[in-house]
Amino acid sequence: MQIVILNDAAAVAAYGANIFAAQLQKKPTSVLGLATGSTPVALYQELIAKNKAGEISFSHATSFNLDEYLGLTGEHSQSYRYFMNEQLFSHVDINKENTFVPAGDAENPITACKEYEAKIVAAGGVDVQLLGIGRNGHIGFNEPSSGLRSRTRVKTLTKATIDDNARFFGADEYQPHLSITMGIGTILEAKKVVLLATGENKADAVHAMIEGPLMAACPASALQLHQDAVIVIDKAAASKLADLEFYQHIEAENQKLQAHLATL
Ligand code: PGA
Repeated sequence: MQIVILNDAAAVAAYGANIFAAQLQKKPTSVLGLATGSTPVALYQELIAKNKAGEISFSHATSFNLDEYLGLTGEHSQSYRYFMNEQLFSHVDINKENTFVPAGDAENPITACKEYEAKIVAAGGVDVQLLGIGRNGHIGFNEPSSGLRSRTRVKTLTKATIDDNARFFGADEYQPHLSITMGIGTILEAKKVVLLATGENKADAVHAMIEGPLMAACPASALQLHQDAVIVIDKAAASKLADLEFYQHIEAENQKLQAHLATL
């Protein structure tokens, strides 16, 4: 894991956006893995600004989102398809036909999960996958106890996740308790993963992900197995790391190495 600890949420978003921008510049046909939630919003705003400034283009890119509520159509204002249109797709030059979100309204969700996996494979696999982390350590909607090699499937949400997301739903609005999510095994197959976490309420989950044992009780700990996982966090989210100074030291050394390599 590369652990990058920055001052605040704005710096985390800018750092994450630069990884995605560099990926699109290097490979315009990139397959991007995208995420919803409040954390990615600032990153998407950075990408929209870079797109409008002509620094990056999504016109040849493809995207796959991590998850979707089961039981909501893409027109529902709380669906993740709607969120992605609002927060990113409608503001950049991506062809919406090349944007994929699991089908929350699928007649047969089991078949839809298999089809989603097949589409990712047909697109050549995900180049860079964006992730947030839940307070309970979930990635996507892979809640604690998720199989560490799980694939895209229907997943029941925990009460913690339902409570965390209740703020987005109206008092008398139906809030789904089932989802379709890429599995942990699916996520681990992305060539690179970038996880963003900010705020003190993520500090326990970040500690468990980085310093805890590899275990299904903390799905994000599976990223310990990934060969190119970048964890970008602010100081508040890093506040419960036992070896904080060591990670800062490694990253300072890493930057020196990158600066040297750039001169070659
Ligand atoms: P958040 O959600 O960005 O809204 O905190 C993260 C997640 O649950 O993955």
